[in-house]
Amino acid sequence: MKKFVIAIDGPAGAGKSTVARIVAEKLNFLYVDTGAMYRALTLKAMGKKIPFEKKEQLIEMAKNTKIDISYNDGKFKIYLDGQDVTNEIRTEQVSKNTSYIASILRIREILWDIQRKLREKNNLVMEGRDIGSKVFPDAQLKIYLDASIEERAKRRYKQLKEMGIEEDFEKIKKEIEQRDEKDRNREIAPLVKGDDYFYIDTTNLTIDQVVEKILLLFKEHAVRS
Ligand code: C5P
Repeated sequence: MKKFVIAIDGPAGAGKSTVARIVAEKLNFLYVDTGAMYRALTLKAMGKKIPFEKKEQLIEMAKNTKIDISYNDGKFKIYLDGQDVTNEIRTEQVSKNTSYIASILRIREILWDIQRKLREKNNLVMEGRDIGSKVFPDAQLKIYLDASIEERAKRRYKQLKEMGIEEDFEKIKKEIEQRDEKDRNREIAPLVKGDDYFYIDTTNLTIDQVVEKILLLFKEHAVRS
């Protein structure tokens, strides 16, 4: 029998990671942050100083890269060629540059393979931009998480502040808008909300309320599948 997949897609700052992690913990599913994989390859390209227009070199690099994940005690970690890069991939520079890596089909295919293999042995809560559309079109439950741009920028601002980083609110808002624009309009695997998604606007909801909604949807779908 096919393992159960809860696909969670949506724009930056919609609360995907927080919510997906809690849902995975409650259901004892494996949580997978696919954005972390695109970020890890971006970090490697930056370290090797490969220019982002050199697609062939980037593809070659991706082919020769080992990406692993772990999820223990509610903590997700990502390893690049055996090295834990969970924190390094979170910088603004990596966030910005990831769109180059994410727009290369061959690189996406390499990561799709890794992502699909994880279903062989695990029930999954997987989050990203194309999980329900490309990675697992047959996912048993597809959720699209959204929130107003104002709210998403506020959350990012707060998150940075907690990390001790003071950033200008308008600047953050602009960066999120630009990233969304790229993710929505790229040719390959853009962020789209298909008709088979459950849409949840998290703007005025607490994390617990969003988690509750997803768990309720899961209960309905687990019975049917
Ligand atoms: O989710 P996160 O913000 O960490 O993702 C970083 C970037 O990686 C996104 O802006 C997007 O360009 C890319 N991404 C993607 N497909 C995914 C996950 C992330 O293209 N499934």
